[in-house]
Amino acid sequence: MQSYKICGGKMLSGKIRVEGSKNALLPIIAASILVKDIVELENVTPLEDTYSMIDILRLLNVRVIYDHKSKMIIDSRNLVNKRISSEYTSKLRASYYFMGALLALYKSVKVGKPGGCDFSTRPIDLHLFAFENLGFDVVEEKNFYKFKKEREPKKIIEFSKVSVGATVNAILASVLNKGTTILKNVAMEPEIDDLIDFLNKCGSKIKREDNKIIVEGVYNLFGCKYKIMDDRIEAETYVVIGALLGRNLEIICDCKKYMKEFLLLMNKVGAHVKETSCGVIVNATKEIKEQSLIFNVYPGLPTDIQPVLTILFTKSKGESVFEDNVYPDRFSQVDELVSMGYNLHLVDKKLLIRRNNAYLDSVVSCKDLRGGMSLIVAAILSNKTTCIKNCEYISRGYYDVINKLKRVGAHIEKI
Ligand code: EPZ
Repeated sequence: MQSYKICGGKMLSGKIRVEGSKNALLPIIAASILVKDIVELENVTPLEDTYSMIDILRLLNVRVIYDHKSKMIIDSRNLVNKRISSEYTSKLRASYYFMGALLALYKSVKVGKPGGCDFSTRPIDLHLFAFENLGFDVVEEKNFYKFKKEREPKKIIEFSKVSVGATVNAILASVLNKGTTILKNVAMEPEIDDLIDFLNKCGSKIKREDNKIIVEGVYNLFGCKYKIMDDRIEAETYVVIGALLGRNLEIICDCKKYMKEFLLLMNKVGAHVKETSCGVIVNATKEIKEQSLIFNVYPGLPTDIQPVLTILFTKSKGESVFEDNVYPDRFSQVDELVSMGYNLHLVDKKLLIRRNNAYLDSVVSCKDLRGGMSLIVAAILSNKTTCIKNCEYISRGYYDVINKLKRVGAHIEKI
């Protein structure tokens, strides 16, 4: 168990480099098994989830060479269709991308059920709906799903609800189909565009048209070299930290174009964020204007920044109100934050955020990735001492976060 003691209230100066996007990388790793050639990925982040995906590749007899920094070579020429047990798939939610990828290649597939942060119920009915429409019968067993190709795929698949994961899986499962598949009511997240760009660089023919994705099936794909996009959620997280404690804190990233809604909000509430050619420079702001915010699918304010953004609005004179349209119950960290002295109230799935009078020494525990990160941000803002347990959740989505914060002046020590 990773636990840290944080003595907060210190101003932060210096540079923080944003890593490659976890939520772009994981689908591309699964997609690489569709390529019977060598794939070279750059800007790969050595996260816990990255290694969990590598374990599954190796189980499928895929050769993986990874420098544990940013370069990964994947060779799927000797891929085998093996059942992926839940021992592997339960470690992360993105393991389910191997369902779509294997269904593109084989008529009969068995994959264990996914795991991942449980801040909310996270069904996969939309994924299974896509697979059924692509011609597969799905049988749910205790810990895994069995898929069997029984009929021709439908040409048009329209989702009842926007889902990032289901959109990714439908693309993966239709890339090598004969003919064209039209996906409707799809997710617009840029991480999906990174996957599309990767697959098109390997020879697929996929394009977006309004809220549709059109997949023209190809016979096979060839190897390529591809650079993963930067992580917009990591970048936004450090911008929030800079708005609270920054003294010329420089966030180096090239994903500003995917952060428009967030940067507009920073400007609107009075945060001192200056865009530069290689990212942004952020200075702490005394006063943040209160807001009523709804977090939504892209291009709306991303749900993944909602827990961290909570801490920024504790600096407002008035009351802010947060609602999360993607995960209405995504407030797992509120009780822990209240025990640190933060003035938060959850009423009918709305989070009321007010300025607090005093911080408290406390011991708190992470319960998931983004909620855990909000505890770190709350602890470095508080002028008291906070012990945070189960920080391994955080290293699933924020690479080297403790050292990055220590290098710019945060007082954090491992306990
Ligand atoms: C992806 O999760 C991300 N994870 C999440 O990031 C992110 O919060 C989410 O997209 C929304 O942007 C990865 O990319 C690995 P969804 P995903 O399917 O695909 C419901 C992080 O912290 N739904 O877009 O699971 C679902 O319950 C993680 O990095 C169904 O009802 O999200 C939610 O309410 C957390 N049935 C909504 O749709 C389904 O079959 C959107 O979920 C699938 C989803």
